[in-house]
Amino acid sequence: MNILILGSGGREHSLAWAVMQNPKCDRLIVAPGNAGIAQIADCAALDIENGGAVVSFAEENAIDFVIVGPEAPLAAGVADRLREAGVLVFGPSAAAAQLEASKSFTKEICDDSGAPTAEYARFTEAAPAKAYIREQGAPIVVKADGLAAGKGVIVAMEEQDALDAIDDMFGGAFGGAGAEVVIEEFMEGEEASLFVLCDGENILSIGSAQDHKRVGEGDTGPNTGGMGAYSPAPVLSAEIEARAMDEIILPTVAEMKRRGAPFQGVLYAGLMIKEGQPRLVEYNVRFGDPECQVLMMRLGAQVMDLLHAAAEGRLDKARVNWADDHALTIVMAAEGYPGSYEKGSVIKGLDNLPEDSKNMVFHAGTKQSDGQVVSAGGRVLNVTARGDSLQDARDQAYAMVGGIDWPGGFFRSDIGWRAL
Ligand code: AMP
Ligand code: GLY
Repeated sequence: MNILILGSGGREHSLAWAVMQNPKCDRLIVAPGNAGIAQIADCAALDIENGGAVVSFAEENAIDFVIVGPEAPLAAGVADRLREAGVLVFGPSAAAAQLEASKSFTKEICDDSGAPTAEYARFTEAAPAKAYIREQGAPIVVKADGLAAGKGVIVAMEEQDALDAIDDMFGGAFGGAGAEVVIEEFMEGEEASLFVLCDGENILSIGSAQDHKRVGEGDTGPNTGGMGAYSPAPVLSAEIEARAMDEIILPTVAEMKRRGAPFQGVLYAGLMIKEGQPRLVEYNVRFGDPECQVLMMRLGAQVMDLLHAAAEGRLDKARVNWADDHALTIVMAAEGYPGSYEKGSVIKGLDNLPEDSKNMVFHAGTKQSDGQVVSAGGRVLNVTARGDSLQDARDQAYAMVGGIDWPGGFFRSDIGWRAL
């Protein structure tokens, strides 16, 4: 098969790494890709949010299967355009991508399917929103309805912070994303993410992970796209995972089908777990980044068969070949991230690191310049290892970090601390 992956981050590098190990992959193109991806696949410049351009590219290159990495092309309907053109694609329609693009849509789906989630109310005006916050009291959670680059959620421990968030959102701080606001009950518990392939009807879990959203050690400082991850998440026991599948994921998929917007792709469910009960925090309609990197490290080449089965509606017959292993990834980011940072600093030492089925440095924001790898983004490298225990994976990943010579970068030295 000729395969096209859309995206340019560490997530897409890990997808490419897994897919190209599968003997069914004859040719792999990643658009636009990055310096690390260019070492294992062809990279092509392409406007991946332009459905027409993606369809033309797929036709010109005799692509048999497209895998969409990020959410923006999904929300823009790129998977719909490909399906209309008869190109097999892994990724939901724009209608089904509403599960990520609109928080109030997801709340409705939970109401109609009975999936457990936080109590909530929706508002389009500040005065009634503030009255509701005063009535409920803190802690309370205020969310901009639309996509806000991960910044649209305010977990307010004090009532005043929630009231200020209302002023910010209706004041336009999140543009159109804040025109509607969801106010939610604060859920206590431990968070974990569950990744489930869906073919519109059938579902298949491909594992759990835990992210590290804050930039600083001990989960302090501003939020980021994620500074590290590990899989599996110990808090998501087999029993709790089974409950999440039965009580949350399956009802969601059934409700989406009933509404005429069947979900095909990966559902990334953010769960809050308390006393054995999982409740939904949010959905994403794509793999997490860097969670994907640890899932790919554990699943390897079979991923391509699983994604293909999801796209063709054959998940009822698909099985995951599980190894009893653990993976951990450490994000190396440019000094200053998630604030402003410089690009173009030289990264050395990558050639001396092991690259095999247990150790990989996935590239996120990198490019080649004068024969050297230089930084080209905020999150730059995902140093990833697999082991028999989380401790093994962690030790190996930090050993690799020690071999990378990049004065312009930093990383958290406590990835995995909650689990260990
Ligand atoms: P989201 O952007 O929806 O992932 O939210 C960002 C983070 O806010 C989540 O990962 C949770 O840590 C937290 N959060 C969101 N909703 C709630 C809630 N209802 N109760 C407690 N924490 C929440
Ligand atoms: N790492 C969080 C995300 O991909 O949304």
